[in-house]
Amino acid sequence: MSTDTKNNTALMEKIVSLCKRRGFIFQSSEIYGGCGGVWDYGPLGAELKRNLRTAWWNAMTREREDVLGLDASILMNPAIWKASGHVDTFADLMRECSLTNKRVRADHVDPQEGVIMNFTGAEAATGWKLDRVISVLMKKAEHIESFRKRVRLLIASNAGEAAGKPEEIVLLGEAKGDAVQGSVDYHPETGGALGPARPFNLMLKTYLGPTATEADVTYLRPETAQAIFAQFKNVFDSSRVKVPFGICQIGKAFRNEVTPKNFTFRSREFEQMELEFFIKPDEAVEIISGEVARWIEGADLSEPQANWGWDLWHRYWVDQRTKFYEGIGLGGVLEYYWQTPEDLAHYARACVDILCDFPFGTEELEGIAARGSFDLTAHQNASTKSQEVFDEDLKNAAAKLTDEQKEALIQKRLAAEQSKVKGAPMPEADVRAWFERLFKGSYVPHVIEPSAGLDRMALAIIANAFNETEKTDEKGKKEAITVLKLHPRVAPIKVGVFPLLKNKPELVAKAREVYALLKKHMNCFYDETASIGRRYARQDEVGTPFGITIDFDTLGENPELLDTVTLRHRDGGVQERVNISDLLGKLLAAVS
Ligand code: GAP
Repeated sequence: MSTDTKNNTALMEKIVSLCKRRGFIFQSSEIYGGCGGVWDYGPLGAELKRNLRTAWWNAMTREREDVLGLDASILMNPAIWKASGHVDTFADLMRECSLTNKRVRADHVDPQEGVIMNFTGAEAATGWKLDRVISVLMKKAEHIESFRKRVRLLIASNAGEAAGKPEEIVLLGEAKGDAVQGSVDYHPETGGALGPARPFNLMLKTYLGPTATEADVTYLRPETAQAIFAQFKNVFDSSRVKVPFGICQIGKAFRNEVTPKNFTFRSREFEQMELEFFIKPDEAVEIISGEVARWIEGADLSEPQANWGWDLWHRYWVDQRTKFYEGIGLGGVLEYYWQTPEDLAHYARACVDILCDFPFGTEELEGIAARGSFDLTAHQNASTKSQEVFDEDLKNAAAKLTDEQKEALIQKRLAAEQSKVKGAPMPEADVRAWFERLFKGSYVPHVIEPSAGLDRMALAIIANAFNETEKTDEKGKKEAITVLKLHPRVAPIKVGVFPLLKNKPELVAKAREVYALLKKHMNCFYDETASIGRRYARQDEVGTPFGITIDFDTLGENPELLDTVTLRHRDGGVQERVNISDLLGKLLAAVS
C-alpha cells in the first residue's frame, strides 16, 4: 500500500464506503447517531467473518490432534479478573481535555500547531460561572471570532443547560500566549489543554444480579484467554489429553478503548480467536528426553518433537500462524515485531506481533506470546485450586536421576533466576520446593498464546483485497471499477449464477437448477437482472471468485456443449467451459 497519507486516507474512505454500500460493515445504531467504537456486520460481512472463523477453527483444532475447543461465557466471577491482573493493571494511560473532559490515549495525541489562548474563566446570564483558567489552542488558520465561537460551544457542551445558550456565554480575561508547534499537550479535537496522564481501566463494568450494588460488579471479558485458563483443569480432566496440548476459543471481547479508531481496527466490542497451548517446563523436557532442543535459524518446525524447549514451541506457533495467513491470502503483507526485553512483561519469555499492512499503517494483527506458567499459577494461587498436571513419564524419568543430577538441575535454575532481566528471582526455597514436585511428576504447565482478532483479520482481508481500476465505456465515460480480490476460501459469496437472459424460461430454469445444486454446499448468488457484464462487475466488487453463465449452448444449441456452462474466474478474467456434473467438485476444491 502507498505510504502517501492523503492517498491512504482516501483509500480508507473508499473501503469504508464499499463496506456500507455492499453490506459488509455498518455503523452500530446508525439511525440514532451511532455508538462509538461498535460495528455491525451486514449480510456479506457476516459471511466473511463466518468463513474466517471456520478457517481458524479448522486449522487450530479440527485438523489437529492436540488442540481442543472451548466455548466459555462472557461473564465470569470477577475474581478471575483480579487474579489475572486485569483489575489492577489492564489500563491505558489517558489524558483529559481540561475544557470538555474528553479523553485521549496519552500515546495517541497527534502533534498540534497553533497559538495558546488563555481565559481566566467564563460566565453566563443564567448565573452559571466557570471559575478557573482555561487554555485552548487556536489553530493556525482559525479566525479569532470563529475560535471564540468554538470555545463557547465546547464550554456549553460540557456545562449543559446551566450555561444557557452558547452564544450568550461570556469568555473572561482573554490573553494570547505562545505559538506552539508539534505540541502533544492539547486535545487533537477540541484544542483544550490536556491534563496529566492517568491510568484508565479498559474493562467494561456491569452488574450481575438484581441489586446492582458494588458487590454485584463484574466485567464483560476483555479477552477470551482467561476462561481457557479458568477451565484448564476441567478440560484436562475430561478429555484424556497429555501435555503438550492446547485449548482454543473464539468469542466476543470488550474493551472500553479510550480512542477507538481506524474503522473496526480498534473497537470496543470485538471478537478474538485465541489458543493457549500448554507445554512442559524445559526442566521436565530435560529430565524426560535428556536434553532440551533450542531454536536455531533454519530449524525444522514442521513436526513438533518431544525434546523441544519453549522457544521452539514458540517459533513453531509463529510458523503455523504464518501458514494460516498465507492460506487466506495475507501471505505477502505480513511483518513481525519481536518485542525487546524492555517491551516484555516480567513473566513473558518472548512475544512477537504479527503485523499487517493497512491503509493507515502497518499494525498488529495477532500477538504470539510465551507466557511461562504465569497465568495458571496466578489462578492456582488466587483460587487455591491446584492447576498442576501429573506426568507419569516425568516421574519415571526423574526416579532414574542421581542426587547429583537433580542438584545440577536445581543449580542451573537458581543461576537462571539470578540472571533474570525483569522481576524478582524466585527464592531458593521456592525453587527447591518446585523441583521436589517436579521430581514426583507434577508441574503447572507453561503456555504459548497465539491471540488473533477476528475483526482486524476481516479488515485486513478487505483492505488488502481492495483493487480499483478505471474503465472507459463505449461512450468514452470513465468509471472506477472495484474488484475485491478475496481468497476463494474467505469470499462471502463463492459463485454467482447467471442465466444469459431473464426472459427465456428455459435458461432461467436451468440456471435455477445449477444454483440449487451448488447452494447446498456453498454460498451462491443468483442474479438475472442487467447485462451479463454488469452482473460480473457486481460480483467482482464483493469479491466473488467465480461466475457461472447458463447460455443457449448449455441447452444444446451446440450439441457438443449440452449441459456445459461458462465458468468465469474473477482474477485474470479467464473463462472456461465446464460440464455441470463437474462443477461442484471443481468449485469445492477451489473454495475449501
Ligand atoms: N490474551 C492476549 C490478548 O488479548 P491483545 O494483544 O490485547 O492480547 C489480541 O489482543 C488480539 O486481539 C490483537 O492482536 C487484536 O487482533 C485483537 N484486539 C485487541 N484489542 C482490540 C480492539 N480494541 N479492537 C479490535 N481488535 C482487538
